[in-house]
Amino acid sequence: MDQRITPAKSVGGAVTLPGDKSISHRLAILASIAEGKSRILNYSTGADCQSTLGCLRALGVEIEKTGDDLTIRGRGLGGLRAPLEVLDAGNSGSTIRMLSGVLAAQPFASRIGGDDSLSRRPMERIMRPLGEMGASIRARDGKFPPLEITGTRLRAIDYTLPVASAQVKTCVLFAGLFARGRTTVQEPVRTRDHSEIALREFGAGIDVQGPLVSIQGGVPLAGCQVRTPGDLSSAAFFLVAALATPEANLVIRGVGLNPTRSALLDFLISMGGEIRVLNLDQSGGELVGDVLARGSRIRGGLIEKDLTAALIDEIPVLAVLGAMSENGLTVRDAQELRIKETDRIATVSENLKRMGIEAEVFPDGLRVPGRQRFRAAEVESFGDHRIAMAFAVAALFADGETLLRGAEAAAVSYPEFFATLRNIAG
Ligand code: S3P
Repeated sequence: MDQRITPAKSVGGAVTLPGDKSISHRLAILASIAEGKSRILNYSTGADCQSTLGCLRALGVEIEKTGDDLTIRGRGLGGLRAPLEVLDAGNSGSTIRMLSGVLAAQPFASRIGGDDSLSRRPMERIMRPLGEMGASIRARDGKFPPLEITGTRLRAIDYTLPVASAQVKTCVLFAGLFARGRTTVQEPVRTRDHSEIALREFGAGIDVQGPLVSIQGGVPLAGCQVRTPGDLSSAAFFLVAALATPEANLVIRGVGLNPTRSALLDFLISMGGEIRVLNLDQSGGELVGDVLARGSRIRGGLIEKDLTAALIDEIPVLAVLGAMSENGLTVRDAQELRIKETDRIATVSENLKRMGIEAEVFPDGLRVPGRQRFRAAEVESFGDHRIAMAFAVAALFADGETLLRGAEAAAVSYPEFFATLRNIAG
């Protein structure tokens, strides 16, 4: 599907977002292996989170959907059923990596794969710790999906993550739920802690001491009711649109503001963004609030080291903002961007180039000089949701109509994105 996007004359209004994608995956998986019924309110509408539900149903879990709310009848730690077919994770790295931790502990073998993009993403990062725990996993060429997982009674391990990855941390913690003993994961850099929070909500034996997260195996989970906050990573697109538009005034309601995610707001403020947070509250252990953004003078910035891990999903749209800033944006230490849904260093720089924006590419990042003007052009999503949405935002600032090819990719995390964009950008 193509989208034609014309420059915005103004940006403003109020937005509510679908539930956070990261949190939704975790809640659905935990509810499925908990005892009793769980209700998950405001579950993500994105295709990735529907892939997780599809896999869970194929494992025998009963899931009822009413609007964006789910009722899940948990099957307990020992109640999943062997799937009859290959589990389909679609485009979702979170689904395959997190669910593999559960599958590794089942008394049956299973296969899990996904689309072309997912089939090129590395899985050794989960195969290694799950192998240490006793599971046997075979992958295409030793590291790519589909995975063939032969589950077993797992043993607890102490594992230091070689790369900062919340998906891998979650995979090991979820496997640890089933293992004999206490499993501990050490992180090189603190990553999003939604799993730790969700595990606590479901009554797991979770303990966090600085960079060490540990989980006691064999503790049954108890079903519960949780509301998923709005997705801050989806909010990022509208925040950038507002900050870069003179006189813009936008409010985004009920956004998740977990401190391991909200580095985005601090970074935008450090660039000169006028951002305010109101009505801060807690929901299901997560911080939630309303975010106000106004058109601002954006100076520029540097994303490197630990900050890169904290902003990893937002870098495509921040690169767009960087081009309109006074001093530009530099991103370093972002090798992980090359193994996301696309090589995002390559896809961002390609679309920037098509829109007449200069950028210097490094193996681990890019530099986008400031004070540049977007030219109307034909750009592509390359099948990557965040690339589609980042360049839909860039198109608002172009000198004419932009044609975005493959715009349907946005539905992976945010099916309502273009409708909402039209509402806020007149
Ligand atoms: C996610 C972790 C990050 C992020 C992804 C979602 C999660 O991936 O990029 O969009 O929900 O845990 P990595 O674990 O590969 O860093």
